[in-house]
Formats: sequence, structure tokens, C-alpha cells
Amino acid sequence: EKAGCESFMLKEIHEQADAVAETIADRVADRDRIDLGDLGAIDDAFLRAARRVVVVACGTSYHAGLIGRYAIERWARVPVEMDIASEYRYRDPVVGPGDLVIGISQSGETADTLAAMRLARARGAKVLAIVNVMGSQATRDADGVLFTRAGLEIGVAATKTFVAQVAAMYLLALRLAELRGTLEPARLSELIGELKLIPHRIAALLERGDAEIRAIAARHRDARFFLYLGRHVGLPVALEGALKLKEISYSATDAYAAGEMKHGPIALLDEATPVVCVATDAPVLYKLISNVQEVRARGAHVIAVATEGNGEIGAHADDVIRVPATDWMLAPLLAIVPLQLLAYHVARLRGLDVDQPRNLAKTVTVE
Ligand code: F6R
Repeated sequence: EKAGCESFMLKEIHEQADAVAETIADRVADRDRIDLGDLGAIDDAFLRAARRVVVVACGTSYHAGLIGRYAIERWARVPVEMDIASEYRYRDPVVGPGDLVIGISQSGETADTLAAMRLARARGAKVLAIVNVMGSQATRDADGVLFTRAGLEIGVAATKTFVAQVAAMYLLALRLAELRGTLEPARLSELIGELKLIPHRIAALLERGDAEIRAIAARHRDARFFLYLGRHVGLPVALEGALKLKEISYSATDAYAAGEMKHGPIALLDEATPVVCVATDAPVLYKLISNVQEVRARGAHVIAVATEGNGEIGAHADDVIRVPATDWMLAPLLAIVPLQLLAYHVARLRGLDVDQPRNLAKTVTVE
């Protein structure tokens, strides 16, 4: 049931505070430690000693993995390798005992992700599945399962399951850091405290309404191409925002690391190009701002997602969409929300079916 919403996708966007709250719930009940419950063969001794993490996934789940990579490397100091599952399974990967392979999948039935997980397991790695659907194939193919608890997602474009996956990756990163002693206890509890506040911040963001984002969407409803830029944890948010727009509005999009602009994509820009920048507070924000200045010098229209209270970004953007302040590493959980809504409104203004976009299936069970 859409519960009064005009679409499942909009309803699911509005369920994101709950999706994160449910996913972290008992796992952060104690502010000083993370409790991931029983991960089967992936016990504490293994998590303490694992030499490497490898993440395999497709589509939106891959973007959640990218955010997890920054968190695991920064907080737990474990090297993380990432690959698209359809590439990983055919590249004869170097993987084996001592590796923790994480398969991320909303459905738990994506053929390529399952194949990548099985391959890694056959070679001796331990495989953790991060999955939303209980009883799905991935839960049977893994050594351990960490469930996201987003509830049933009906819209073909993943929204609430994405924020739940990102939250699960943060939990895992913090647990690895706790076990390996790579974060000061005070810093660990500070991050846990901030993570616990994320559902409130998502709710606050959604309560503000989306009139502003709708107006931005209306100005660009006929744009044939949108460029998305980000740096560090803002980059996967840009990738995911661009994927949402292309899936449901059928606009061409490109998403790039802002630092790569001059190496090619800047040639695409003209006065008609909307450029969406994930510009939330971060140590790399000033670098991003200088990339944005280059974009603006080409006359492109800059739409920035920025942190409430940041006074700098306003001078460099045509439109600024604000998200609440949080620890900068956790900002993707907030910054993705306006980008989902932007994609949503562009698609609706074009009269498209957001829940059932053309050519797409919710679950891709064939490679
Ligand atoms: C995007 C989307 C797809 C899925 C991808 C993986 O909105 O829904 O890109 O993320 O097909 O699906 P799961 O997570 O079920 O393995």
C-alpha cells in the first residue's frame, strides 16, 4: 500500500529514517561498542586478523560499498578492494584465506553478485552477505549475514535499501575499528552517537518538504544531460544520485570525481548543463569548491548539496540544497536524500512512471 503517497518510490524515500533506525537499532544499543550479533563463521578472531576486505555488488549496492570502503580504510585501517560483481567473477581474482569478501545485495538474488561470492568462497575467503531479504539465496551462500532492515522495497529504483546498506557498512567499519583498536574509544563512541542521530536528521530533512527541490527540478526538466561531481565520500553519493536520475527520468548523466574534471568531462559543459555537486562539509571541501569554480567559469548551472551553516558554498552555486550537519564521514546518509528527490521530481515533471521505469527489473536474476 502506498499509504496516501503518489508512488511507492516517494513513500520509500520517506521511510529512510526508519530504515536506518531499524538497521542500527540493537547494534548500537551500547554507545561504546558495536554489536553485530552472530555472523556465523566470521567471528571476532577472523575480523581482527583479516588481511583485506573485498566488496562485490551491482548498481546501487555497489555505491553503498564504495562509501563503506572509505569508512573501513579510514577507521579500521584495513585495505579494501572493490569491484562490480560482473567484472569480478570473470577476472580470475587474487583472493583466498584471510580475505573478508562482502557481497552487498538488496534482493540477495542478483546472479552476478551470487557468482562473485561463490567464487571467493570456493577460493577460501570468508564471505559476508549484507542483504535485505530474509531467506534469499545470498543468505545461504555466505559464511555470515548482516541484514539491512529497510523493509520491503517495491519501487524499482533502490532508495531506502541504499541508506540501510550504507548504515550497515558503517556498523561493520566501526566494529572492525573497535576490534583492531584503530580508533580511540572516545572517537568510537562519538561516531556511534552521531550514527544514532542520523534517523532524526533524515526525518528533519524530509519534514522541511521538497518544494525547493521541485522548483530546481522544474528549471531543469528539459535538460538532456546532467553532470554529477563529488569527492571522497561525496563521490559515491554523486554516482548514486546520477544513477537515480538516469533510471527514472531517462536523462543522460555522468558522475565523476571532481578532481577528474579537467581530464575530460569539462569538455561536455555549456550554459545548459546542470552540474550537481555533493559539497557537504569535509576536509576536501575547499578542493571541491575550486573544481566548482572551474565549472561555473564555463557557464554551467551549479546545484550544490551543502551542510547547513556552511557559509562558503553559497557564493559558488546557483542553487544550494541544505542538509543537517553531522560527522562529515556520515554525510552520505543525508546528502543522498535530496538527490533522490531531485531525480524523482524531474521524472514526475516529465510524466514518467517512477515505480516501473522502462527496461528495468527490480531483481536481476540472470547475468
Ligand atoms: C538501482 C537498482 C539496481 C540494483 C542492482 C543490484 O536503483 O535498483 O542498480 O541496485 O540491480 O540489486 P541488488 O541490490 O538486489 O543485488
